[in-house]
Amino acid sequence: MLTEVTATRYVTPLREGGSLPGIVEADDLGTYVMKFTGAGQGRKTLVAEVVCGELARRLRLRVPELVTIQLDPVIGLSEPDQEVQELLKASGGLNLGMDYLPGSLGFDPLAYEVDAAEAGRVVWFDALINNVDRSWRNPNMLVWHGDLWLIDHGATMIWHHNWPGAAASAAKPYNASDHALAPFGPDVAAAAAELAPLITEELLTEVTALVPDEWLVDEPGFETTDALRRAYVEPLLARAATIHERIVLDAPAATKPSRAPGWLTDHIKPWPHPTRNSQDSSQDPQKDADR
Ligand SMILES: Nc1ncnc2c1ncn2[C@@H]1O[C@H](COP(=O)(O)OP(=O)(O)O)[C@@H](O)[C@H]1O
Ligand SMILES: [Mg+2]
Repeated sequence: MLTEVTATRYVTPLREGGSLPGIVEADDLGTYVMKFTGAGQGRKTLVAEVVCGELARRLRLRVPELVTIQLDPVIGLSEPDQEVQELLKASGGLNLGMDYLPGSLGFDPLAYEVDAAEAGRVVWFDALINNVDRSWRNPNMLVWHGDLWLIDHGATMIWHHNWPGAAASAAKPYNASDHALAPFGPDVAAAAAELAPLITEELLTEVTALVPDEWLVDEPGFETTDALRRAYVEPLLARAATIHERIVLDAPAATKPSRAPGWLTDHIKPWPHPTRNSQDSSQDPQKDADR
């Protein structure tokens, strides 16, 4: 089971994302980014966060700790924002929390270099879970203490929105051309060789067991929550074996993110990069394009 805590104070909404997560404090004195069951994206987003976040952790990718958070909407009574009030009112009961990383910065591909092996592991993992939400427009990665951390696995496993078509959907390729780590030459073959053998039925059963029953009950077509948990295992197991052959990495899109300001790059690029010479921008079409 994930650790369960109780929210004691709603601190502030986070407006960068689409689902209006909020920062809350809890009775264990922790601070969490809370994802609400009452958000428009629905409880499947929370299921995906648990299954994929915990799977990533078991593959030794960095993901902040996940907890479940009991919410009594009364803690938001003094919240002036109508939208937040309504979200809290609709989310009484069990919600998802992610340990808040204080002082973390949003990943910027022009300010932080990732080596080909790490980029390969993240791209391969995103291909496995069919993550459509790690593009350079919206990387959903944080840099904290000099390391890359993965957040936001809500928009993954598209097949769980249409279970009868799940096998066909999971057989499809993964287009990583716009992935935030595509410019770093991700070594997906090495990542597949390292990570695919770790994706076993046992491991997937372990991570799906962490999803609270509350978020699984009454799914049409499933008699029990455990039957639904098994349905999550199958497409991931099938995909793990061969997805590296179906990762599309075309030339990156023409429009690029803007160059990061100097104060940011100076601040978060303290180490030399082993595989690329960052002094020599002629090797780097991405940097040239931004001049
Ligand atoms: N664990 C965390 N620590 C610090 N900041 C976070 C954390 N999780 C999310 N954030 C910040 O909140 C924003 C929204 O969170 P995210 O999980 O991406 O939600 P959404 O589903 O709405 O996109 C992120 O872009 C990031 O800036
Ligand atoms: Mg996000």
